[in-house]
Amino acid sequence: MNIYTFQHEADFNATGAGLIASLLHTKPRAVLGLATGSSPIGIYQRLIEMNQKGLVSFAKASSYNLDEYVGLPEGHPESYRSFMNEKLFNHIDIKIENTHVPDGNAADLEAECQKYDAMLEANGPVDLQILGIGHNGHIGFNEPDESLIGGTHVVKLQEKTRTANARFFPSLDDVPTQAITMGVGSILKAKQIMLLVRGEDKAEIVKRALTGPITSQCPASLLQCHPNVVVLLDQGAGRLI
Ligand code: F6R
Repeated sequence: MNIYTFQHEADFNATGAGLIASLLHTKPRAVLGLATGSSPIGIYQRLIEMNQKGLVSFAKASSYNLDEYVGLPEGHPESYRSFMNEKLFNHIDIKIENTHVPDGNAADLEAECQKYDAMLEANGPVDLQILGIGHNGHIGFNEPDESLIGGTHVVKLQEKTRTANARFFPSLDDVPTQAITMGVGSILKAKQIMLLVRGEDKAEIVKRALTGPITSQCPASLLQCHPNVVVLLDQGAGRLI
C-alpha cells in the first residue's frame, strides 16, 4: 500500500488526476470505478481542466459508479447520477452511454443489482477504482456489519451515514433510507484502487482502516488485502499515520 500525505490541496488533486490521466494515456479504453462525495471533487475538477486543454481524453473510456440512493426522483440534485453529470461527465468528452450508475428507481431493485454485476463481469475488471471512506469505515455503502456482501446489493443506510449526508438535504427526513452499492467483492476485483481522504475528522478511521485489524466492522480495512492500493490523504486525514 502506498500512502501519500499532502500539505496542499492542489498537490492532492494534481496527483489523483495525474494517476487517472496516465492510465488513460496508456489505456484509452480504461474502465474507471468512480465515487461521489467531497473527496474526489477537486480531482474531477482538475480532470475537466486537463480534458478541456486536450491533455487527456475519456472518449473511449467507460465508468461504473459505486453506488446510488434508492428512491430519489430522476434528476434530483442529490442523486449520485446528477452529481456525476454535474461534477464530471457533462464537462468532459466521455460518452454518456458509457457511464454507469446503479438505477435507484428500478422497479425491481434485485434485478438491477444483478444487471450491474453482469455488466461489471462482462466489461471489467475495473482498471482503477476511486474510493472515499465513511466515518464508520464504509466503502461505497458497505456499512460495518458482522459480515459483508460481495456483489452489488441493496443496503439500509446506517443512521450515522444518513446524518453525515443530511447536510445535502433540506432535513434528515429527506435523506433516503436505502441505497444500491457495489459489494466489497466487486470493489476488490479492481486492478488498482485509489483511496482519497480529506479532513481531520477522518484521521481515526483512516488509522483503523490502514493499520488496524482486518474486519467487517471496518469495511475499508479489507483494502489491506489488495495488492495495489494508493492512498491520498490531506494533512488532517493523515494526522495519525
Ligand atoms: C460515494 C461513496 C461513499 C463516500 C464516503 C466518503 O460514492 O460511496 O462511500 O466515498 O462516504 O465521502 P467523502 O468523500 O465526502 O468523505
